[in-house]
Amino acid sequence: MVIGIVSSRADRRRDAGDEHRETQRGRVTRMAPVISNTASSATASTLLPQVLAHCEASQPSAVERLTALLRIPSVSTDPAFEGEVRRAAEWLTADLSSMGFTAEVCKTIGHPMVVAHHPGVGSEAMHAPRVLFYGHYDVQPADPLELWTSPPFDPVVVDGPQGKRIVARGAVDDKGQVMSFLEALRSWHAIAGGPPVPVTLLLEGEEETGSRSLEPFMHEAKDRLAGDICIVSDTGMWDIDTPAITTRLRGLVYLECTVHGPTRDLHSGMYGGAVPNPIQVLADVIHSFHDGNRRITVAGFYDGVEELSAETRAQWESLGFSDAEFLGDIGLSSGFGEQGRSCLERTWSRPTLEVNGIFGGYTGKGAKTVIGAFATAKISCRLVGQQDPERIKAALKSHILARLPAGCRATFEEHGANPAISVRESSPFLTVANDALFEVYGRKPLLIGTGGSIPAVGSIKQILGMDALLIGFGLDDDRVHSPNEKFELRCFHSGTKCHAAILGKLASVKQR
Ligand code: BES
Ligand code: MN
Ligand code: MN
Repeated sequence: MVIGIVSSRADRRRDAGDEHRETQRGRVTRMAPVISNTASSATASTLLPQVLAHCEASQPSAVERLTALLRIPSVSTDPAFEGEVRRAAEWLTADLSSMGFTAEVCKTIGHPMVVAHHPGVGSEAMHAPRVLFYGHYDVQPADPLELWTSPPFDPVVVDGPQGKRIVARGAVDDKGQVMSFLEALRSWHAIAGGPPVPVTLLLEGEEETGSRSLEPFMHEAKDRLAGDICIVSDTGMWDIDTPAITTRLRGLVYLECTVHGPTRDLHSGMYGGAVPNPIQVLADVIHSFHDGNRRITVAGFYDGVEELSAETRAQWESLGFSDAEFLGDIGLSSGFGEQGRSCLERTWSRPTLEVNGIFGGYTGKGAKTVIGAFATAKISCRLVGQQDPERIKAALKSHILARLPAGCRATFEEHGANPAISVRESSPFLTVANDALFEVYGRKPLLIGTGGSIPAVGSIKQILGMDALLIGFGLDDDRVHSPNEKFELRCFHSGTKCHAAILGKLASVKQR
């Protein structure tokens, strides 16, 4: 396939492309020829139209590559899938190597990281901002399996109301979005011999389990991960025609609490009424977390929570978000939460304390008259503003311990603590992103918040000193973490073009 002007450079491109196909088929990692960083008269902005045309022409093969990655069940939370997580890292490393990247699967205390680097090609690259792309190749468990209409790791492309979509675990979170960036790199490689700016990728295999290895790894690999701006594609759009840049992420504190009572399970007739039942104690504790207005009662919980500025409130109101649609989509007709606040406000700007799982006693079929010796709740808090994750964790533990009756004790397992993130709403990088998204969609992107969390973004700021551009291509109905997760192919392909355009436009920002 030859697109645009064919030159001797194009021949090299085609060779590199052939090598890539061989790599993916034969599973051998070989370096593509590295094209030297020589001056050329073509600037990134003159090449961009060809790169975008290449993205478009590559769509069918891009879907094939995404399908291959989605077939690897890289479930990070389940030790049974450890080898598969590694296989996904190797797959990505091979793919990046085929595009002239120096790519490596790096060992960590947990699942491996993929780190890849390309110095960039063309005369602008040495002065342009260095991009660090962060994404994750691990996925959430697929269960409940019986609710999938096709097997979660056997991707299918099906028709939907917005065109074709790919259905598989990880389709949008985050393999599809990671591949939208890789496809953009592939097109730059094909047209120009490489990206027009220096690019480093950090692809994590533990995001869905709280990014345990990330901070130690970042300290260790700080020099290799250096950059001027971080791009993350793990969030959503406003709607399928309207791109968005996310400027707020909520933080997350996750605590598993087990209440222990009697030393063993008891006959509920022989002992019932005379001893504490851990399930009921735990239920009382959970009940105490909120007051009648759904405000959280944990002492100091709201320290650092900020009210919206009049400006942000007005901007959010102008978005025209429909609570009825948001709720209707999940079978609800009325909202629930802190009094007097809209769904957007509740999910983007307010903290939560929720129970994500609860078990104890007898949960099998039929009836068993028993008082269980323990009961467990998985509790998480979404944080906003300046809420301090460590203080929230400590306050939550004290709140629980203070409410246990004599004869009960509690133990805790911690699963991560990350602060909320807010990104500056004006920077030269944001301007570039705005222009790029406008070029692809013909619409200015909206600045939005999200209720979700991406722990890495805080670490990237703290340890690597970089701001993040959160530009994602998911939609609210993508069923993230649910059965039948999907990614609209329109979002995948437009996302690819946006990344290609962002890279092209960053080349003309003089950073160094
Ligand atoms: N990509 C999501 C975060 C997200 C979800 C952003 C929806 C925007 C919209 C990410 O993979 C995720 O699921 N994060 C977890 C946190 C993690 C520590 C398990 C989350 O938000 O629950
Ligand atoms: Mn994600
Ligand atoms: Mn996720």
